[in-house]
Amino acid sequence: MSTDKPAERWYKDAVIYELHVRAFHDGKGDGVGDFVGLTRKLDYLQDLGVSALWLLPFYPSPLRDDGYDISDYFDVHPSYGTLSEFKRFLREAHRRGLKVITELVLNHTSDQHALFQRARRAPPGSRERDFYVWSDSPSKYAEARVIFKDFESSNWTWDPVAKAYYWHRFYSHQPDLNFDNPAVLRHLLKAVDFWLGLGVDGLRLDAIPYLFEREGSSCENLPETHAFLKELRRHVDARFKDRMLLAEANQWPEDAAAYFGSGDECHMAFHFPIMPRLFSALHMEDCFPIVDILKQTPALPDALQWALFLRNHDELTLEMVTDEERDYMYRVYAMDPRARINLGIRRRLAPLLGNHRRKIELINGLLFSLPGTPVLYYGDEIGMGDNIYLGDRNGVRTPMQWSADRNGGFSQADAARLYAPVNADSVYGYQGLNVEAQEQQPCSLLNWMRQLVAARRRHDTFGRGSTEFLDADNRRVLAYFRHGADDDILVVANLSQKAQAVELALGRYAGIQPVEIVGGTLFPRIGVGPYALSFGPYGFYWFSLGCGRRPPAWRNPEVQVPFLPKGTSPESPGLPA
Ligand code: NOJ
Repeated sequence: MSTDKPAERWYKDAVIYELHVRAFHDGKGDGVGDFVGLTRKLDYLQDLGVSALWLLPFYPSPLRDDGYDISDYFDVHPSYGTLSEFKRFLREAHRRGLKVITELVLNHTSDQHALFQRARRAPPGSRERDFYVWSDSPSKYAEARVIFKDFESSNWTWDPVAKAYYWHRFYSHQPDLNFDNPAVLRHLLKAVDFWLGLGVDGLRLDAIPYLFEREGSSCENLPETHAFLKELRRHVDARFKDRMLLAEANQWPEDAAAYFGSGDECHMAFHFPIMPRLFSALHMEDCFPIVDILKQTPALPDALQWALFLRNHDELTLEMVTDEERDYMYRVYAMDPRARINLGIRRRLAPLLGNHRRKIELINGLLFSLPGTPVLYYGDEIGMGDNIYLGDRNGVRTPMQWSADRNGGFSQADAARLYAPVNADSVYGYQGLNVEAQEQQPCSLLNWMRQLVAARRRHDTFGRGSTEFLDADNRRVLAYFRHGADDDILVVANLSQKAQAVELALGRYAGIQPVEIVGGTLFPRIGVGPYALSFGPYGFYWFSLGCGRRPPAWRNPEVQVPFLPKGTSPESPGLPA
């Protein structure tokens, strides 16, 4: 059960909500979301129960990679507002107890950044030129893979002004900064000080594996990168309290875990490989892919944490799977070639799962109970759809659907002015699928998600406990314990579309009556023999096994309502005691 949480490890107990300012709410009526609009929607986010907001890049940028092509690290893109509007947003978020995580895009800038414009004009070998990585021939670092393989054929592009090739791991309009130049580090540390100085609580370190280049290597995860991260961490720790660094390293678990250093690099790192395996386990109706990847995942010391997600603003990446697994995922989740991009699938959660409510609930039940901090992508809490006819990854970045009003309540502008069309199709269209409608339906996905988030946040064990898998006698059922300081939680999930039963060896808990956490229901007492459970299709349970051998205080046997409307929970004061 939750007790007072130490402020310095807030990210361990967090539920993170990822959003794009541009896509969330347009407060000024020009067709583009902004900080004024986002600030107005903070009450919604507080009601949803999330505890931290991760904002995609909102800095000045030509927006050729949706803001990951920064042209000024120290300001706000004029379409999204002003620095003082950002500060007001931050104040209001903090007033509601919401932490704010922003982007630190270190690896590259836009080619429109003044530093690049200066570099390409400066003489070869000068300090200015040296801010980026140049070569006379495009054959250096030949072992580095091309990441955006649908768009780029090489990591080098010829610059007619500099009369040299420059290095870029992503789009050719995003030249990589030269981390061998100490002036680059100094510039970036100023940006770190600027945003953390304003009160930002965490930084997502974009594309962190690619900072350095060394001949004969893949130019990923190099020791120099880790040395740099240690320096960054020292810098942050020396100046700020309770801040968090989150590594975006799309790598195998062992390489991703290296971004924690020995507790002296990042506090958090995304766990990329678990994500596609949740989807394949669900389709194969087999717990193996999940158990297998988590068994390859190193256990973390208390101060560190994985960040887990189902979907985000990028494609569902299939880089960290085998070729067979990738073929399988494409076959079952992206038959339409339009749904594919680079090495991944550009779809949102609901369409990926055929809008199957129980599957959506189950996969969220796993996301919120596996070891790590869950990251929810905006719109997935209402089951928003996508638009695979938009270019790049824009199909999963359409405006948030607030109501059945004009433009889905996102903006008062003419529809033609919107930065992207609101989804209006017959299944996921804003007319029927929106926040306002779901707030009115007690059984909506939104209200179900609110309950799930609340249940998760009542139990520190989810964020802090260790994990132990159980050998169930049925591979269609995934079972694991989360062992916490003062509670043990048992998670049991039916990955199958058919009803299933399982017998679990729970003898060590003999005498305990499990309490199902989301609904507060008491289950039969555990005996010394096998404990039998049955499930409907895609059913799952989170059981508190309580260490005090008594049902937890929050359990109220009078209240057995599976879905409660907004603002209520089994421990709400408004409900009968
Ligand atoms: C990772 C971001 O998530 C992605 O959206 C972006 O395109 C690349 N970094 C390049 O900046």
